[in-house]
Amino acid sequence: MAEVEVVVCKDTSALGQEAAERFVAAAQEATWQRGRFSVALSGGSTPRALYTKLVEEPQQTRVPWPEMQVFWGDERHVPPGHADSNYRTAGEALLAKVPVPEANVHRIKAEQPDVEQIAADYEATLREVFQLSAGELPRFDLVLLGMGADGHTASLFPGTDALHAPAERLVVAPWVEKFQSHRITLTLPVLCHARLVMFLVGGEDKAETLRSVLEGEGEPAAQSYPAQLVRPTAGKVVWLLDQAAASRLQ
Ligand code: 6PG
Repeated sequence: MAEVEVVVCKDTSALGQEAAERFVAAAQEATWQRGRFSVALSGGSTPRALYTKLVEEPQQTRVPWPEMQVFWGDERHVPPGHADSNYRTAGEALLAKVPVPEANVHRIKAEQPDVEQIAADYEATLREVFQLSAGELPRFDLVLLGMGADGHTASLFPGTDALHAPAERLVVAPWVEKFQSHRITLTLPVLCHARLVMFLVGGEDKAETLRSVLEGEGEPAAQSYPAQLVRPTAGKVVWLLDQAAASRLQ
């Protein structure tokens, strides 16, 4: 059963600082124990608060950047230079400012027209970097996630078949009706196999959904909130919230 911790931070800057300190701790522990630190970055805007703090001292010096293997939890179906690209967001705000070897940055090649090919290529990269045998899941040291007001996380949206991917799939490319576009996303089993999942959630617009996700009885079977389904089998989930997002919690 996953260990769950909920931390309420004063504001976005405090949330970024708390996330950065935990990122540093996870990176140091992973590198010390296993010689490297595998992380899946999330998309959206909230992680900017983390990236800002990670490139500041003392955090920047404390992260073993050369030992980091960088992946993304999901990506939009756009080229890497597109304003919506999660790769571009993290590239500009973080990776361009720290010494992660280029060979360790594993971008989802979402410029390709064939989304199934994008998913297959990314899955092959995961299998190669994590040296997975058939049927084995990659175990990330840290998975960063956000949550939408509809309870989606990564690109696992409510009611989509991405939530029911075949067990052997690590990456899928669901059509997302509300965006009239495909997304490429890690599957739920991969997210649930992480050592540490860190949700960064801010803003009043998330408060009601967060109450349901963290305090509701919501039947996982209902799959109403994908974020609620991220329960690492042998890992920890930390919810880092700002006061606005946490305003409806008991
Ligand atoms: C994406 C993200 C998505 C994001 C949430 C929250 O590609 O958009 O992976 O899951 O984390 O939508 O986004 P904000 O942090 O911008 O609120």
